[in-house]
Amino acid sequence: MSDEINVLTNQYFQQVDLPHLTIPPNNVLIQPAVQEALYENMFKESLTPLPPANYRSRVLKSLISRMEEAITDPDQDEILDTLMETWGTLLITPKPTAIQQAQQLSQIKYTAPTPNTTPARTIITCESRGVILAGGTTGNRTWEAALHLGTYLSTESGESLVRGKRVIELGAGTGFLSLFCAKYLGASVVSTDREQFLIDNMNTCVDLNSEHTHANANPSSSGKIPMYAGIWDWGTKLEGEGIGDEFDVAIGADLIYDADIIPLLISTVRDLFENYKVREFILAATLRNEKTFQTFLDTCGSNNLSVETLAFQSPNSQEQTGFFHSTDIPIHTYRILPG
Ligand SMILES: C[S@@+](CC[C@H](N)C(=O)[O-])C[C@H]1O[C@@H](n2cnc3c(N)ncnc32)[C@H](O)[C@@H]1O
Repeated sequence: MSDEINVLTNQYFQQVDLPHLTIPPNNVLIQPAVQEALYENMFKESLTPLPPANYRSRVLKSLISRMEEAITDPDQDEILDTLMETWGTLLITPKPTAIQQAQQLSQIKYTAPTPNTTPARTIITCESRGVILAGGTTGNRTWEAALHLGTYLSTESGESLVRGKRVIELGAGTGFLSLFCAKYLGASVVSTDREQFLIDNMNTCVDLNSEHTHANANPSSSGKIPMYAGIWDWGTKLEGEGIGDEFDVAIGADLIYDADIIPLLISTVRDLFENYKVREFILAATLRNEKTFQTFLDTCGSNNLSVETLAFQSPNSQEQTGFFHSTDIPIHTYRILPG
């Protein structure tokens, strides 16, 4: 598959919004081999997990209209029958309303941004993307900071932070980072959040990702990826069967969006350093609000924690090949150590 079809396919399975898809030029789309690759890799019914029908039909409609624009000789240029048949089937498939769609859980397949890794490193999460805040949590979707940190962890220097380590993730939401660390980066992971339905989702995803293990994956002797998901509301005792009480590294993404939770987060990080043998906390943060962010730095200082900024920057959106995310708002990665 050519690189441009590969990127489009990876974006499609991540259900990237239509305006942000990298669609090859019309004169490329009209080529029979390209259309065949699009059908085989994106629209064939046996592919899994297929995006929801309304997303599939919007993408296919856009591709077909571009192909039609590229037709110069109707006797020569054609749109593949299988694509047209799929389009016909999608047109008559009953679709949920926009509100139902927003609330539905959907399986999302993310591909790591390492174009030369064969086979590709993919992970599957379960998300309700349209639900920003539900059941008291913003953890129903995977946020840009997690995709940024995932991009860093997919590099050699990022991977060295977690390979062979016992990792605990705080406020894991969909479990995206934990799943990636457990499945491909040689870490054993405890993934935590405070909502039971997020933990249930993560456990479903442990099973889903264990079915999808391949040459690069890291299953334990049980055949499952080495990840345990458990409830942890910061400020309460970390306990529960399978959680354990010693870790090497803590990770987190997008946890400092609200100044009010910063003192609790920092005391939790201190607790991990003092009582759970954690040696460093790797945190990716989207810098939405300078003041909130300064509160975070000041609170680290007053708690005798040192904060290093890692030099890593995600490639800009047009150059990304996987773990696609916007870079419009700066995202920084920090290494926080006991002072
Ligand atoms: C913006 S989401 C980020 C989710 C995920 N880390 C990501 O980047 O995709 C913040 C997460 O922190 C969790 N969280 C917030 N306050 C928490 C607390 N006091 N204890 C445990 N988790 C908390 C939320 O439930 C939510 O899943």
